[in-house]
Amino acid sequence: MSSNRCLIAGNWKMNGILEEALDFLGELECNPAPEHVEIALMPPFTLLHSLCEPLNEKDVRLGAQNVYYEPRGAFTGSISPLMLRDAGCQYVILGHSERRDIMAESNKQLSSKLAAAWAAGLEPILCIGEHLEERENGTTNAVLKKQLAILEDVDGSAALTLAYEPVWAIGTGKTASPEQVTETHAFIHQELQRLGHDCRVLYGGSVNPGNAEALMGCPGVEGALVGGASLKADSFMQIVKAAAKAVS
Ligand code: 13P
Repeated sequence: MSSNRCLIAGNWKMNGILEEALDFLGELECNPAPEHVEIALMPPFTLLHSLCEPLNEKDVRLGAQNVYYEPRGAFTGSISPLMLRDAGCQYVILGHSERRDIMAESNKQLSSKLAAAWAAGLEPILCIGEHLEERENGTTNAVLKKQLAILEDVDGSAALTLAYEPVWAIGTGKTASPEQVTETHAFIHQELQRLGHDCRVLYGGSVNPGNAEALMGCPGVEGALVGGASLKADSFMQIVKAAAKAVS
């Protein structure tokens, strides 16, 4: 893992009310962040404003889990990139498999969201990953290549983080083996290089304190996007520490 690129990001998904978030903050001991590891948290929209300042004090970056691509207007229920900036966000997760699969988010929408995020000065964390059936029938690389094609006409200097999240490993307790992770990250880095992007690539999918060190130690892995284990300050920080060990 190259030393200055590691990011451990917590995706709270649709979890967290203010009281729980304040308890989490009270238990979060991460200032200063371990050397060479950046920490970020993506709570639900409702907590962004409240958590911005306290997280900033703890040297933790703030991000959102989604964004709409219009700056303002009659789009009931949507949140714009400008609103995320106003709430103190630096990052926004885009293309998470739960949005692609459950909310039927299309590549076309995703392209518009990427462009809108960049225009507002947000750094997207773009998620890609194959389903179990695709892993089993040997089409993983083809699926990832198709998902990455969204970057084809994008300027390579755009601020971007990628997250490889095999869908079958999300919330299942099953993680990709270090061999699978190493092999797939090598393919992703090669594809990114072909597309002219030199961005960091995180791994996501059932990362926990028990497997973090092995996963973060895989070549080509530059951090983690953590779901369930990011809801508790203690397990989240254990993952941060495992990453710090891997980069040291
Ligand atoms: P889990 O860590 O709960 O498997 O979730 C991973 C994820 O989807 C992060 O975006």
